[in-house]
Amino acid sequence: MDTSKLILKPGLEGIPVTQSSICDIDGQKGHLLYRGYQIEELAQKSSFLETAFLLIWGELPTTSELRNFEAEVQMHRRLSFRVRDMMKCFPASGHPMDALQSSAASLGLFYSRRAIDDPKYVYNAVIRLIAKIPTMIAAFQLIRKGHDPIQPRDDLSYSSNFLYMLTEKEQDPLAAKVFDKCLILHAEHSLNASTFSARVTASTLTDPYAVVASAVGTLAGPLHGGANEDVIAMLDEIKLPENAKSFIKDSILTKRKIMGFGHREYKVKDPRAMILQQLAEELFDRFGKDEMYEVAKQLEEEAIPLLGAKGIFPNVDYYSGLVYRKLGIPRDLFTPIFAISRVAGWLAHWREQLGANRIFRPSQIYTGSKPRSWVPLDER
Ligand code: ACO
Repeated sequence: MDTSKLILKPGLEGIPVTQSSICDIDGQKGHLLYRGYQIEELAQKSSFLETAFLLIWGELPTTSELRNFEAEVQMHRRLSFRVRDMMKCFPASGHPMDALQSSAASLGLFYSRRAIDDPKYVYNAVIRLIAKIPTMIAAFQLIRKGHDPIQPRDDLSYSSNFLYMLTEKEQDPLAAKVFDKCLILHAEHSLNASTFSARVTASTLTDPYAVVASAVGTLAGPLHGGANEDVIAMLDEIKLPENAKSFIKDSILTKRKIMGFGHREYKVKDPRAMILQQLAEELFDRFGKDEMYEVAKQLEEEAIPLLGAKGIFPNVDYYSGLVYRKLGIPRDLFTPIFAISRVAGWLAHWREQLGANRIFRPSQIYTGSKPRSWVPLDER
């Protein structure tokens, strides 16, 4: 095939691959909207489940719609003993994102009717995925500690219950409130890598559990959701605020990326990073300071004069790890928690993709060998 007229755009930068009415980003002004609502307003006034409903079904729910949605999610939070037993066979040393990807994919075995044109099937799949992903993450955390997973508690809200299942104790309401806001902030972000992955998988008309499992696998990488773990490792390495200046200079000289900085879309500070920074401060005021926050602030101050001109500023991952750390969440659970939230966006895109589907099949520019003759094994 003659591909000489094709123009390659590595990473598909600037190439629209779909139309979408879910999320709008203005990367120059630092604006983020879900279905037309500003992220700042949602973080202040909404709950994660209400925001998930908005993203997936397109409009804010009425009181009864929200109550039903919350009740259905609550009803489906438990895991089958088969899923729990399967998780007990996972190696405790494995990464929780791999445990989550496998467990999410396994739901396809239990609900194997691929009736994606049946609204009831679609609704149930949405409920199950939103309900069960937090339970899976908490179950793996307890299993790898040698404990038995604990059952969800019906008297607790979505976020309080997750923190309870994870830590085996009921948390302060402020912790649950801050956690719920973190879920709102991470719920959707247009065609990022994992959402694109979800849409590509959805376009084959496979089941929603495979769609979510493929997105979880994509989110796991350090250039995407995995960056918040690396931010904490980097701040750990810097240790003290006074080391930030030399760290940033050395990093620029050696072309080492500052984790939690830079974004394909934003050329200013990510609006979610600003809200997360406020949430982190709220937690520090209540539960005590974290020295690492001082390192993070100093690093940001030193980095902006050097990287700001290139449009490189803190992204959503820069402060999220500090919030989760203060909530007592282990570092390798930061990205699985991102998945609890982003499943709302993935499911919204799954539905949208099915509404106007064409299988994704991009082209390539071939750089391999010209046609050549087969060489028998003994002549090579
Ligand atoms: N630190 C230092 N320099 C950076 C950084 C950074 N974090 N990010 C980008 N740059 C520089 C690059 O070195 C490059 O410079 P050059 O043109 O002089 O070679 C330029 O900015 C463009 O960088 P790319 O990597 O090509 O930008 P791209 O849009 O492809 O990547 C990405 C965006 C992956 C987020 C990148 O900024 C990065 O690797 N950041 C660190 C990892 C991170 O925080 N990821 C989380 C992103 S948010 C999320 O997924 C939830």
